[in-house]
Amino acid sequence: MTNYIFDGCDTVKLAEKYGTPLYVISESHIIERIDEIKRDFLDKYPNTKAVYACKALQTVGICKLIDKEGLGFDVVSGGELYTAIRAGVSPSKIVFHGNNKTYDECKMAIDCGVGTIVCDSISELIMLNDLAGEMNKRVEILFRITPGVNSHTHEYISTGHHESKFGISPKILLEGRLLESALSMQNVLLKGFHFHVGSQLTDNSSHIFAVKKLLEFIKEVINITGFIPSELNLGGGYGIQYRDDPPRKPLSYYTDPMMEEIITFCNNENIKLPTVTIEPGRFIVGEAGITLYQVGTIKTTLGGRTFVSVDGGFPDNPRTALYHAKYDAIAIEKMGEPNQSLVTIAGKCCESGDILVWDIPMPELKRGDYIALLSTGAYNYSMSSNYNRIPRPALVMVKEGKDRLSLRRETYEDLISKEIF
Ligand SMILES: Cc1ncc(COP(=O)(O)O)c(C=O)c1O
Repeated sequence: MTNYIFDGCDTVKLAEKYGTPLYVISESHIIERIDEIKRDFLDKYPNTKAVYACKALQTVGICKLIDKEGLGFDVVSGGELYTAIRAGVSPSKIVFHGNNKTYDECKMAIDCGVGTIVCDSISELIMLNDLAGEMNKRVEILFRITPGVNSHTHEYISTGHHESKFGISPKILLEGRLLESALSMQNVLLKGFHFHVGSQLTDNSSHIFAVKKLLEFIKEVINITGFIPSELNLGGGYGIQYRDDPPRKPLSYYTDPMMEEIITFCNNENIKLPTVTIEPGRFIVGEAGITLYQVGTIKTTLGGRTFVSVDGGFPDNPRTALYHAKYDAIAIEKMGEPNQSLVTIAGKCCESGDILVWDIPMPELKRGDYIALLSTGAYNYSMSSNYNRIPRPALVMVKEGKDRLSLRRETYEDLISKEIF
């Protein structure tokens, strides 16, 4: 019986060497995804950019790796900006997002010279103009618009509808003559528009709908103001494979039809093709990650449900509880053994909702066995917490049979290290 091998590494040996729970991230997977982005988007279309959405998974090490591969970065807080800068990323390659950037965060972003700030509200526009004026700088901005699309994904990760907390409705921008105001401001330079319709979209219809709405809006903008955008940012959201999903679609499934719309529009309107940016996060790191756990208690309820509890859970992966995410899991020492029964993999927290995987067929399991959850690279470590005072797991980078500790496991001492007694 062979153990589960991930990017050339024996996962049982990783669990024994570093302990569990353990985040394992494959460099080869990340590089493969970036190669696909280059082949299917950056090299295929002129004037295109790809920025990695750091919220999916960010460490200094991940930033260095992705920076070396030539991508830019999307950050959404002072902390993400700081981490990218500490990794040596050129600020000009950074796009700064957020529906409520604070004064201090905007100051930090302008001070370090981020390439683009995506403006999410009118009050933010005024703050940016005033702040940049005080700092004797001019900032390049995009407006984030809500294209009015209800994406086929969990409502908490659907972000392009009119009632979203993100962005500004095109109608409000036009009727309030807000573009004219922005264009007359001395310290902001409006370059174009941004949308992000949602995350984990396995169907391209939301992206296509959004780009059509964006282009209709741009036509009106040109007619009313004469402003021709030189940059469009189409966000991220490209889906990956979780349990029971078909294999993920290639990036081109999303980007080709969007580019076709944009190119046709520019030809028809006789305007220059703008710079087009995409912001994938999950697509790059989601399937590059697995999490290793060790089985503890196993029990069957009166109703017949078997709970297999592991040594992690909600604090290292809140996505099942938050979004009803469906992970695949494997017993890494029992590859090839027949499945015996349906089990529910539970975390160790004091929350009934702390379940990692509901009802999954598994081979016979016993205390001490190891389990891997697949496709945990995105929005796991970045969403982790210390709930129940559980230290965060270590994170190991693997590549072609070699492993390297990238983030050490937190200790109990770490848990109290910021307290002032
Ligand atoms: C503005 C923006 N861009 C990009 C992303 C990345 O999304 P995904 O990881 O689904 O590609 C997000 C995710 O929330 C986002 O809010």
